[in-house]
Amino acid sequence: MLILALETSCDETAVAVIRDGKEILSNLVASQIDLHKEFGGIVPEIAARAHTEKMIPLLKKVVTDCNLSLQNDIDAIAVTFGPGLVGSLLVGLSTAKALAYSLNKKLIGVNHIEAHLYAAWLEENSPPKFPALGLVVSGGHTELVLMKDHGKYKLLGATLDDAAGEAFDKVAKLLGLGYPGGPAISEAARKGNPDKFDLPRPMLEQDNFDFSFAGLKTAVLYLIRGDRGKTKNDKGFAQDMAASFQKAVVDTLVGKTLKAIKKYQPKSFILGGGVAANLELRKTLKEKLPNDVKFYCPPIELCTDNAAIVGANGYFKAKNKEFISWKDLKVDPVAEIE
Ligand code: KG4
Ligand code: ZN
Repeated sequence: MLILALETSCDETAVAVIRDGKEILSNLVASQIDLHKEFGGIVPEIAARAHTEKMIPLLKKVVTDCNLSLQNDIDAIAVTFGPGLVGSLLVGLSTAKALAYSLNKKLIGVNHIEAHLYAAWLEENSPPKFPALGLVVSGGHTELVLMKDHGKYKLLGATLDDAAGEAFDKVAKLLGLGYPGGPAISEAARKGNPDKFDLPRPMLEQDNFDFSFAGLKTAVLYLIRGDRGKTKNDKGFAQDMAASFQKAVVDTLVGKTLKAIKKYQPKSFILGGGVAANLELRKTLKEKLPNDVKFYCPPIELCTDNAAIVGANGYFKAKNKEFISWKDLKVDPVAEIE
């Protein structure tokens, strides 16, 4: 089964073609980082406009690269309907609806958080066994999800305020490290001392699977203020703070994950979302996960936003006949995993 997948939930325009939920025939991503850089964060209006400019050229390129006929070769169209920025989501959704209507193809609505978990099925000969525990850490979300089967989820915990990626982005801004913050912090942290600053590990000792990163960001802010501007051009300070902050986030994410593994005894563990690109997080999880839990740590280009994960997720929904009419599919900027 060939699925054409579209993803426009945030600031990446992405189109992919996926065979049988696993094989990537094409996976193109047009990043908007350069457009948002000067504002230090994503500007929703600019993101939506850029999606409208990029979508058709990307579709054309995918069709040419794969030597495809959309009419004859594609079995269904999968698209992200939420969560995300409403203006951005609308571009992908409208394109998918127009294609489904004009080509008379089946349409599948995909939840972006759920899609991040499906990176583990791509190009994988022994896919995750259920129950699987998933940790989705992105710019907008930090969620621990128990996957009992395809489409059968229990949300164990989520962030109560800032998402992990959002905290990386905000702390990078405070330290003057630029945008996007995740890669900037990891780069600076390579030369810093992770034990230099004593930062909190929020909610780690609490008996739940929720997260909170706003206080951690504030703790960094107070330390910067306490230094009365001396930090402004001090590279060493920024490197030590980046390393200490990264370690606090990693300790918190890994600590909660290990607690959830102990309680729910999953067969597999899946890491997904943009923050999963963080090498320190990947390394620490690899070291600390119990041996009897298989770790699915997708390649970085499948962790950050892309449409291949939407196509993989879409395939399992198609197998379950979870199609939706173009008339009924709506964007849901605050969609939850269910
Ligand atoms: O999943 P994603 O590509 O988009 C959303 O759905 O939000 O995640 C983007 C987030 C950003 O906050 C970015 O700073 C973070 O992922 N990120 C990282 C790294 N690379 C990207 N965070 C930490 N370390 C990284 N290496
Ligand atoms: Zn994402």
